[in-house]
Amino acid sequence: MKLFHIFSLLLCISAFSLATGRRLAAGPVAPVPPAEHREVYADGRLFDITHKVSKDTPTWDSKEGLGQFLSPLASIKNGSAVNAAEVKMSVHTATHVDSPAHVFDNYADAGYDVDSLDLEVLNGPALLVDVPRDNNITADVMMSLNIPKGVRRVLFRTANTDRHLMFKKEFDSSYTGFMKDGAKWLVENTDIKLVGLDYLSVAAYAEALDTHLEFLANRETILVEGLKLDNILPGLYTLHCLPVRLVGADGSPTRCILLK
Ligand SMILES: *[C@@H]1O[C@H](CO)[C@@H](O)[C@H](O)[C@H]1NC(C)=O
Ligand SMILES: *[C@@H]1O[C@H](CO)[C@@H](O)[C@H](O)[C@H]1NC(C)=O
Repeated sequence: MKLFHIFSLLLCISAFSLATGRRLAAGPVAPVPPAEHREVYADGRLFDITHKVSKDTPTWDSKEGLGQFLSPLASIKNGSAVNAAEVKMSVHTATHVDSPAHVFDNYADAGYDVDSLDLEVLNGPALLVDVPRDNNITADVMMSLNIPKGVRRVLFRTANTDRHLMFKKEFDSSYTGFMKDGAKWLVENTDIKLVGLDYLSVAAYAEALDTHLEFLANRETILVEGLKLDNILPGLYTLHCLPVRLVGADGSPTRCILLK
């Protein structure tokens, strides 16, 4: 989709300075137990609410998913001293933030890229709320949620989580998101500066551009998209989101966690 025209992200982690290094131990390699991959840490007090980036991660308007995003620049199996990969993918892949530059070219020109996003907004107390499953997020739905004044960060859990949409590689445009009037109501009537949602866009597909324009016009609201909100009780948490500092980028992958 044109509006989501995207900067390619080329992240090159090179370690060629190591290339002259020598391995200390030669000889037979002991078997290694397989690594653990977890969603919850610290005895149930720390939740990883980031989706994995994998070849099956859904991407905007595509049936195919992300596909191959990681390629080797150097590999030990091929005789290099180290393994080092490069990444190629949209900056709106999996769990990510949108900056004002995403939908306003004058803001892009003025430097409102992801590096300009306020880390204080991205980190602090946040409310996880369940929204009604029978509607997109309209002004009426926002009113019905009764989110108290003073709440600055809200993660909206929707039918997208029940439907496991982020775990399906085929993009589904029937996902739940904000309608334009819901976004306008939020900006005008609440103190919310961070809006998180559980699919690739906080905006419903039918009003994707207009809804982003409503949210991002004030250059204060930060959108966190593609959150993984499964198996967490609604309520108040401490949120930490730390987007990669990609200068000039309109969006950026981010790790997000919730602390109880
Ligand atoms: C190793 O080298 C071969 C031949 O150049 C190449 O096809 C393959 O992709 C390389 N593999 C890795 C993991 O670098
Ligand atoms: C939300 O909007 C999408 C279009 O953007 C639509 O396909 C979907 O049915 C709507 N969801 C609900 C629950 O009304």
